[in-house]
Formats: sequence, structure tokens, C-alpha cells
Amino acid sequence: MVQRQIPNPADVLEFLKIKMPEFGKEARLKKAFSIYDLRRIAKRRTPAAAFDYTDGAADDELSIQRARQAFEDIEFHPDILTPAEHVDTSTEILGGPSALPFGIAPTGFTRLMQTEGETAGAGAAGAAGIPFTLSTLGTTSIEDVKKANPDGRNWFQLYVMRDRDISYGLVERAAKAGFDTLQFTVDTPIAGNRMRDARNGFSIPPQLSLGTIANAIPRPWWWIDFLTTPKLEFASLSSTGGTVGDLLNSAMDPTIGYDDLATIRELWPGNIVVKGVQNVPDAVKLIDLGVDGIILSNHGGRQLDRAPIPFRLLPEVVKEVGQDATVMVDTGIMNGQDIVASMALGAKFTLVGRAYLYGLMAGGREGVDRMIQILSSEIRRTMALLGVSSIDELEPRHVTQLTRLVPVGN
Ligand SMILES: Cc1cc2nc3c(=O)[nH]c(=O)nc-3n(C[C@H](O)[C@H](O)[C@H](O)COP(=O)(O)O)c2cc1C
Repeated sequence: MVQRQIPNPADVLEFLKIKMPEFGKEARLKKAFSIYDLRRIAKRRTPAAAFDYTDGAADDELSIQRARQAFEDIEFHPDILTPAEHVDTSTEILGGPSALPFGIAPTGFTRLMQTEGETAGAGAAGAAGIPFTLSTLGTTSIEDVKKANPDGRNWFQLYVMRDRDISYGLVERAAKAGFDTLQFTVDTPIAGNRMRDARNGFSIPPQLSLGTIANAIPRPWWWIDFLTTPKLEFASLSSTGGTVGDLLNSAMDPTIGYDDLATIRELWPGNIVVKGVQNVPDAVKLIDLGVDGIILSNHGGRQLDRAPIPFRLLPEVVKEVGQDATVMVDTGIMNGQDIVASMALGAKFTLVGRAYLYGLMAGGREGVDRMIQILSSEIRRTMALLGVSSIDELEPRHVTQLTRLVPVGN
């Protein structure tokens, strides 16, 4: 028999306290508990063409799906009964500190996604003590990024253009502004085939059609921001009115090679990192040439679709180049667990592209802060549950990669 009693009116009243709905940016961001939540908010608030430019990838978008799948297909192996009260997520990267084992990847056209653009990214990175990377195709000047993140670490990403003077002029400005690392991107001899952009008729600058107007109606704030803030201007490009791909193809030099690396070395006093390394021999060659680091990346699946999954390359690359070389990884990171797994398998650092942009589109600076908070708490919790209290303690034995896609021997 269940024993029953007359309810106490005070207890009933306690249950009846109805929580009033909250509105505004803070309330919106408070409801985001994962990067995928930020993505959902971003999608609601951003015109389809700009959202798709960010969210999309090349051709059938298989590379990005596979990269995310590979992260989902890891198994963690926790140690038990080890103290995990104080978890230290900080690490050293390229001669300096980072409070967390990730930084913000370079992204072009960022103010198109949300008007605060790089200022929000650099400010949030500075506040969190992690590095921020400005793209050659950034929409905020080198000097303004420095102003937004005056005491933190700024990195600059270089595309070598047909017009070398433009590219090398940017390198000199970044050095003068105290940026400490240059990422030389090598996976973009020509633009990847971004089908969503072609289908949306996405052009730079954005052009209005009946479709874009219909899509704009539920997203008035984006348009108000776009029309009432300074025009998007690119130090390195003159707008052609074409798609992003057209713009890239008119600017990029498809003949860049190892000579360019040597030239950059002469111009740049800081660290040089090559971004877009996709096989073991290239990784070994670059480390032997004395670069300060490499980034295993397929550009978030935006260049060659069906390219190798960077996270999968990690163990073999680390084995061949040795533990001391600085190997970083990006593409597909949507959860702090992806970062912990990468660090366990020998990465020295990771970068996030879309996760940052989803935060930005969801809520400008506060949205990027929220993105960092979410990844940070996922990293901290995963480390504690693994029984690990510092990044150095993460080891390959903590992670197994489950295989769904197994190459056939040829
Ligand atoms: C919208 C967007 C723009 C990008 N622009 C650049 C760029 O200008 N230069 C560059 O080297 N990489 C660029 N990338 C690639 C990122 O630096 C990074 O490699 C990629 O986003 C990592 O994958 P993730 O988005 O899954 O984190 C861009 C990525 C996105 C999503």
C-alpha cells in the first residue's frame, strides 16, 4: 500500500511558480548547450546564402561529414580512482601559452556572417587566453584586430596571391602589428566547388533577388546590421560581383610552391606554420625543411571533397615526424571531446572554424564567448572523467578510433 498525505499548500505553490519566458541575446545564448545548438540559432538568424557559405563544403560535402563521423567514432578509455579535482586545460603552443588546447581558425568574409566579424573573434579569444587567426580574406584590418586583442596572441593566415605585393605587404603589416605566427595555407591553388553558393546565387557583394528578399523578412537584424555598418572591403581583393569561388580564382596563384615558402621565411620573423597538409611525406618534408609547425587540415572539407580525414592522419604523421614536431589538426571539430581526442593522439593544438562562426552568427561577441565556454567545459569534463588533470597526461591509450571507413589495400 502506498502511504498518502494531504499536500502542503506551500509545496504546491512552489511547483506552480511559472518561469517567465526570457528574451534577448543572453537568454538565447543561455539555451545553447552544444555547438550544434549554436548552429541552430545561427541558422535562424542569418540569411540562407551567408549561413550556407559558412555551413557548406565542396561538392557532396563528404569530407566534412566523414571528418565529423571520425570524431564521433572514437572510444575513450578512462582511468578510475585518480584525482581529477583540479583540471588544467592550458598548453604551450609555438613558444607561447594558450589557456585551452584550441584556437580560432582563419575564416574569410567573416563580417558577412555577422557584422561584428573578426573584432568579436579576436576580442573573445583574447579574453579567453587563446590565439586568434586573421585570414588574408578577413573583413577587419590587421591593425583593428590588434586593437580588439591587444594583449593576446594574434596569428595571420596567408594566401599567396597572383599579386605578390599585396600578399607580402600584408605579411609585413602583420609582423609590425606583433602577430606571432603565420599560417601559410597550401590547399587552395584554386577554389573548391561550393555547390550551395552556386545554387543560392551567393555573390560578393550580396545581391538582392526575390528569393533573398523573402529570406530576409524573418531576419531583419542581419540586414539592418549589414546596411548600417561600414561596407565590406578587402585589402587583398577587388570585388568582382561573382561568387566567392570566382573571386578566389581571380586572386589565387595556382603555381605557388616551395620557393614561396623560402621567400616568406625571409619576410617573416615569427613562427611559420603550413596549413592544409594532407599526407605523411609532405608532413615529413616540411618538418625537415624547418617549418615551425604543420596543420593537418582539408580546409573543413571546402576544397577537395573526399580528401583524407585530418584526424585520421594524425597518429601516423606524429609517428613519422616525431613527438617534438608541432603537429596541429582541424576540420570537423564540434565538441570539446574531439579536441581532447586529438591531443591524446599527439596533436599539439587544434583549430575551430565553423564552431566559432556558429557562435558569431548566434550572438556576435557573446556568441563567440559562449562557443569558447561550451568547448572549454566539454574539454574540462572529458579530462576529469578520463582521470587526467593536465593536457600532458593525455596519451594515445586514452583513445581508440573505431573504424567505419577502412581503406582497401592497393
Ligand atoms: C566560412 C569559412 C571560411 C574560411 N576561410 C578560410 C580562409 O580564408 N583561409 C584559410 O586558410 N582557411 C579558411 N577556412 C578554413 C578554416 O580555417 C578551417 O581550416 C576549417 O574551418 C576547419 O574546419 P571546421 O570548420 O570544421 O572547424 C574557412 C572555413 C570556413 C568555414
